[in-house]
Amino acid sequence: MKRLTLLTLALAGGAAFAAPKADVAKGKQIAQKVCAACHAADGNSGISTYPKLSAQHARYLAVQTAAIKEGKRTTGGAAAMKPMVMSLSEQDIADVAAFYATQTPKSGEANPKDNLKLGAQIFRGGIADKKLPACMSCHGPSGAGIPAAGTDVTAYPRLGGQHKDYTVTQIKAYAAGQRTSPNGMMEEIAKRMSEDEINAVANFIQGLH
Ligand code: HEC
Ligand code: HEC
Repeated sequence: MKRLTLLTLALAGGAAFAAPKADVAKGKQIAQKVCAACHAADGNSGISTYPKLSAQHARYLAVQTAAIKEGKRTTGGAAAMKPMVMSLSEQDIADVAAFYATQTPKSGEANPKDNLKLGAQIFRGGIADKKLPACMSCHGPSGAGIPAAGTDVTAYPRLGGQHKDYTVTQIKAYAAGQRTSPNGMMEEIAKRMSEDEINAVANFIQGLH
């Protein structure tokens, strides 16, 4: 219900995107040349601070790559990536985003001893007392996200299988204002979470597929 309301709101303000038409073959070349060192050629990065990009929604990937290029994400990780994408055009970004979106995701594993039950509970049901909504209401029951095409929310991103370390960093980045989201959605959510809750849900997400 909550998600429907948000989607409706987004639709009401929705401007159509004039995204360039993507060339997946060119995108593959850019991925191999520029991104693979950190994100892996198929987007299934093996290093926990470099996010997995495989099967992520193309529009989300493009918007985030541009945000990092323009310095709108201000974490240390984003600063490290920025010089690598400075020279990419809007077309290059659309191409490489389209390529990674077609790649097969590889999930990780959750640590069963790391508050897994709490993590599952938060993801599926939220915490009513803290007005923390269920993550799956926007990110989907299997963490596959929702493309939300045609709305001004570029996508509810895919989270399933993402590295725990990366997810923890991002939730904290929203809380600290190093990253912003449409209508402040994730900032509000992140600020309501304790350190233990962030760790638990990120552990659960790492094994989700
Ligand atoms: C030097 C290593 C490095 C290179 C090369 C690099 N990235 Fe990144 N990338 C990162 C790091 C670190 C982050 C996490 C940023 C953060 O913590 O905010 C990131 C984040 C991203 C994100 C955000 C993912 C999300 O789920 O929000 C996208 C999209 C992305 N990179 C795309 C690319 C593309 C496309 C290329 C090649 C054109 C590329 N990156 C090259 C290190 C790199
Ligand atoms: C109301 C909808 C909504 C709910 C509920 C929600 N999210 Fe999000 N989330 C979003 C949107 C939209 C984005 C993309 C924001 C952006 O553009 O940076 C996002 C982004 C994220 C990201 C960054 C993904 C990446 O690849 O960098 C993480 C991590 C995340 N959410 C975790 C959670 C967790 C954990 C919960 C549950 C406690 C949750 N979200 C609940 C809407 C939501």
